[in-house]
Amino acid sequence: MLTASVIGCGHGGGLSLDAVSNCSSYVLIAAADPSDDARKRVADRFPDARLFADYREMLVERRADVVCIATPAPSHASIAREVLHYNPKGLLLEKPLACDVSTAAELLREIREAACPVVVPHGMLVLPAAQEIKVRIRRGDIGAITSVEVHNAVDLLNAGIHWLAYLLDVFDNDNPGIANAEFDASGHVVNDGVQVESRGVTRIEFESGLCIDLHSGCQTEPTSDVLLSEEQRGALFRVTGSNGVIEFSAWAGSYWIQVGKSDGELIKRPLPVGLSYHQIFLEQLALNITGREFVDSSANLSLAALQLIESAYQQHSDSEWALGVPAP
Ligand SMILES: NC(=O)c1ccc[n+]([C@@H]2O[C@H](COP(=O)([O-])OP(=O)(O)OC[C@H]3O[C@@H](n4cnc5c(N)ncnc54)[C@H](O)[C@@H]3O)[C@@H](O)[C@H]2O)c1
Repeated sequence: MLTASVIGCGHGGGLSLDAVSNCSSYVLIAAADPSDDARKRVADRFPDARLFADYREMLVERRADVVCIATPAPSHASIAREVLHYNPKGLLLEKPLACDVSTAAELLREIREAACPVVVPHGMLVLPAAQEIKVRIRRGDIGAITSVEVHNAVDLLNAGIHWLAYLLDVFDNDNPGIANAEFDASGHVVNDGVQVESRGVTRIEFESGLCIDLHSGCQTEPTSDVLLSEEQRGALFRVTGSNGVIEFSAWAGSYWIQVGKSDGELIKRPLPVGLSYHQIFLEQLALNITGREFVDSSANLSLAALQLIESAYQQHSDSEWALGVPAP
């Protein structure tokens, strides 16, 4: 049994708190958040966890084997560095690793130097439907892939990073670059403490010629003709191949596939009831800690996705409202 603690108890931290308490290989011993409301919510749900307003105090008083960091992005790297001083056996670090690539890359280097297994819970890397789609795309079930369109609900840095980490994994034998990126930041959106676009289109072109178009913004469109509305959860993906199409939404447990002249079929691959993707990542981390073969690549994919996002954001020329930087 591994002991675990959580730093930052908002939405993302809640996913870790639930997952830790549902995992058979972990016991939740502590959580930290400066917000009285957040700590009250945790106290109500997890009465056995010791709560701290200051995570530094928690690190000294209640050392855990695994620490989950789910604070706003600008603080990830500095908190992770402090946690590393206490030699944890493993880390769950929320995306993005940092707001910029050089900080994120340096942090990953330090984590590796400390020989500390780390997971970054990008759900699509473990969700059954998304993983089956990956296998089918790679196997050529819909022929050679000609385009991928993602109609995103929010911004690249907070949500697009999930979709990119997944697509970089799917097309891992190809080399991507930003072909074009156009953003509208006039809405001045701050998400996770970081300035992001209100709308945008980013084209990623691979060496093979494959293009991915990511539409970020506040509306997910177009509405799929084939996926039921309850199947549309998060961004909508359409992967077009020389012999078919796959359509799916990011967090849904199903996908629609049409091959050749067939009518197409809806295939359901939901997560087992009661299981979350944070749980899957934590179980994988436990395997890593006990040295049982599993090698995680989620942190590398997260960094590679951040590299693309940073290049895209650098094409944004409005110097008064830079993208991807912490809000003042
Ligand atoms: N992997 C996922 O699917 C997923 C989903 C949601 C959020 N997230 C990530 O979780 C992180 C937090 O996002 P959120 O949506 O939970 O935000 P949130 O605003 O709901 O929660 C952030 C919490 O962190 C606390 N906090 C701030 N500074 C802190 C500090 N120094 N020490 C301890 N706690 C501190 C805040 O008081 C707040 O309760 C982000 O990095 C986000 O990208 C990931």
